[in-house]
Amino acid sequence: MTTSAGPRVVVVIGGKGGVGKTTVAAGLAFALGRRFRVGLVDMDLSGPSVPVLLGVEGPPPVRDGRMVPPRATADGIEVPVMSTGLFGTPDSAFGWQGPVVRGVLRQFVRDVDWGPLDHLVVDTPPGVGELHAAVLDALSPVAAVAVTTADAAALADTRRSLRWFRDVLPVAAVVHNRAGTVCGACGTSDRAGGEDAAAVAALAGDVPVIGLPAVVGSRHPWRAGPEAGAAWEELASLVHTWPDARGTGDSPAAHRHEPAPAGRGGRS
Ligand SMILES: Nc1ncnc2c1ncn2[C@@H]1O[C@H](COP(=O)(O)OP(=O)(O)OP(=O)(O)O)[C@@H](O)[C@H]1O
Ligand SMILES: [Mg+2]
Repeated sequence: MTTSAGPRVVVVIGGKGGVGKTTVAAGLAFALGRRFRVGLVDMDLSGPSVPVLLGVEGPPPVRDGRMVPPRATADGIEVPVMSTGLFGTPDSAFGWQGPVVRGVLRQFVRDVDWGPLDHLVVDTPPGVGELHAAVLDALSPVAAVAVTTADAAALADTRRSLRWFRDVLPVAAVVHNRAGTVCGACGTSDRAGGEDAAAVAALAGDVPVIGLPAVVGSRHPWRAGPEAGAAWEELASLVHTWPDARGTGDSPAAHRHEPAPAGRGGRS
């Protein structure tokens, strides 16, 4: 990362497991990658799914003392990727906590030869906590993108996450994943019911909602033609044009953030 201000960092968050955070992080990286230089960091340290999803393997080679990230490719776009999943064996597990989390973050940023980047997309584990606080402190993101489905449990958990983020980082978009379906083979689409869309809109408040269809038969829904393509393009554009408050003194992310105790109140 050699640009003077560093890349614009966007953090992908979501209250619930399995709602599509990693899919959205990867798709956003490729959508931004059409016009910009983009890297993808997998901060789901204990459940790193980016390498498997994007078909990249480690360990990364070291050149001049820095790791060279493997590049995921799709449709001629290359996205360098860093993930704990590139190290160890598929069976190795480790409890990432405290200073180790911050050490990994430092290494993924400082000790990786990213080359010049315009955007850095950061995938995170479900919920909020120490890891998210460390990402905010270390990377000063410009904005978050929240991912949810219209499922009641996902909405409830995402509401909690949005409350936690409320004071520390603006949310540029709420992605309503699985908003209808698209057939990956024939392109036939089926839009989400009004009730689902209304529930996500109520959660999002004044934050724009982007409906992303479930692409049947594809794990790479960012490659699914115009129906899904428009949603990715809209998300990329929102993220790219989001005001960068870093260095103005107004950035909420510039504030040190400690994990909030459970049950902390906020906007509902
Ligand atoms: N829009 C979509 N179209 C097709 N498949 C999808 C879509 N969104 C997610 N999936 C699939 O659903 C599964 C869960 O998605 P993903 O891994 O992105 O969720 P996650 O929120 O990152 O999960 P975790 O909380 O475990 O990190 C994956 O198999 C993924 O390929
Ligand atoms: Mg994930």
